[in-house]
Amino acid sequence: MKKYFFILIVLFYADTAFSHSHYPITRDSLEAIKNGKILYNQYCVSCHQANLAGATNWQSLDEDGHRKAPPLNGTGHTWHHTDELLHRMIKYGFAKLIKNYEGKMMGFGDKISDEGIDNILSYIKSYWKDDIYEYHLEMSKQ
Ligand code: HEC
Repeated sequence: MKKYFFILIVLFYADTAFSHSHYPITRDSLEAIKNGKILYNQYCVSCHQANLAGATNWQSLDEDGHRKAPPLNGTGHTWHHTDELLHRMIKYGFAKLIKNYEGKMMGFGDKISDEGIDNILSYIKSYWKDDIYEYHLEMSKQ
């Protein structure tokens, strides 16, 4: 758990290095959600599972001693991170953000466009409860 907090702090600081202007990402566009779903099913579902539910017992480690894929559906801690940071996690993967990272979340920047990544985030947000979604919109505005 301690290690995870350290990682979050590093990611938070890595976050301030770049900036985008199109945040917060909403779930208002059905088109975006639909496209995000297609991309999710192509690139993410193998680890994060159907309905974004995450790996079984996601809080334990896998046989390689790595963290398992967490749920993205609002029951985990995905919504604790701003849009900008989530975008960066997906684009660059944890390996580019964390020195000596040995886990399994790689980046998809060479496969998915920035818009595609934001569409996936719209799809992810379509699963979140209203209160979490609203809170996150406020949080991602800055
Ligand atoms: C090979 C398995 C794998 C694939 C494929 C994968 N992920 Fe992950 N993902 C992980 C793991 C494992 C973690 C946790 C990373 C860690 O703590 O080391 C993670 C973490 C994340 C997080 C942070 C979640 C949080 O609650 O903090 C997001 C967001 C995410 N992944 C999105 C995606 C998206 C979007 C895709 C598809 C484009 C994707 N992942 C594909 C394994 C995967």
